[in-house]
Amino acid sequence: MKKQISDYLVPYIKPLTMYVSGHIDLAWKKPSLKRMMSNENPLPPSKKVLKTVMKYASMANRYPDQGITVRTKIAKMNKLHGAENVVLGNGSSEIYDMIFRTFLEPGDEVIQQTPCFGIYKLRCEVLGGKIISVPMIYRDKKLLYDAEGIINAITPKTKIIVVANPNNPTGNFMETADFIRLAKTGIPLCIDEAYIEYEGFKKSHTKLIRKYKNVIVTRTLSKAYGLAGLRFGYLLGDREVAMKIAATLLPWNVGTISMWAALTALGDKKGLKDRVNYNNGERAAIIKALSKIPGLVIFPSKANYVLFDSGPAGKKGEDIISFAQKKDIILRGDKPKYGSDGWFRVTVGSKAENRKFVRVIKEFFSK
Ligand SMILES: Cc1ncc(COP(=O)(O)O)c(C=O)c1O
Repeated sequence: MKKQISDYLVPYIKPLTMYVSGHIDLAWKKPSLKRMMSNENPLPPSKKVLKTVMKYASMANRYPDQGITVRTKIAKMNKLHGAENVVLGNGSSEIYDMIFRTFLEPGDEVIQQTPCFGIYKLRCEVLGGKIISVPMIYRDKKLLYDAEGIINAITPKTKIIVVANPNNPTGNFMETADFIRLAKTGIPLCIDEAYIEYEGFKKSHTKLIRKYKNVIVTRTLSKAYGLAGLRFGYLLGDREVAMKIAATLLPWNVGTISMWAALTALGDKKGLKDRVNYNNGERAAIIKALSKIPGLVIFPSKANYVLFDSGPAGKKGEDIISFAQKKDIILRGDKPKYGSDGWFRVTVGSKAENRKFVRVIKEFFSK
């Protein structure tokens, strides 16, 4: 009998569907909405970056190179030997795709600390891998990393441990001693530093790369640098490891415009500093303005978003999110956990958006 097309599908692809970021689609469809949901930077690219974009847009008929110039610059910035310590991706999401394809076979396991960014699970499952989620510990109005829990979750099938630092959505950092414990297991350890610039490179763990070959650090220009739409991310690793991961790289994955714009942005120290100062000031203002609401748990954040738990105040996160949406603000929620259904997260927006967010939340809680 003739086979059906579904009979030809890779078994672990069969149950999967396309990831749809409906909130982002909605924001593009209705530009009047306040995009306070995706941890984007509210500030547009600097004039310097825009100039580079225009220059290379006029050369868009040409293929990009393999990014030797920008990779060399990134290596130097991070005190690594050279371009071979750096792999470029279409955002750090693509970097995760490459790392996972390098280490995972169907049935292998990736350990993540939850709640966390969704891409690790998505890219793991596309390869037939199994995601193992170790929950953070919710104690004294804080969500704490659980390195012990991660170590206890290791099995012979564990091929990758991934930890975001600071974590999305909780906004806090893991202790260096805990990263060393994880690095010492020898298992490929990905430290996702997507938001590191908000607290400064001094908080980075790139120094572990020189001591532990299994440590890989990932970064992105989507956040503090404010270039999410250009899609530029990178990884830093031991030369041998980075070049093995680069074997999975789709040639010419990063376009000419993104590559050169990234080089300009990386060199624009003032541009970065302005964005970081703006964000950190606005983040503090949001937290201060909402800190008096009885029962509302606000998680201290070192990134460009703030997580809230309104469960102890007797409110549901989904009610807050739909109330805010009626007032044109898009927020992000999460499924019930730790016995609470009060989760919501806001991304720092423009000054006017932040003031409006504070007004809307106060209004909701005064109802
Ligand atoms: C922790 C973390 N890592 C990585 C990313 C991916 O960013 P990009 O693919 O734009 O580089 C995000 C985006 O929200 C994130 O929160």
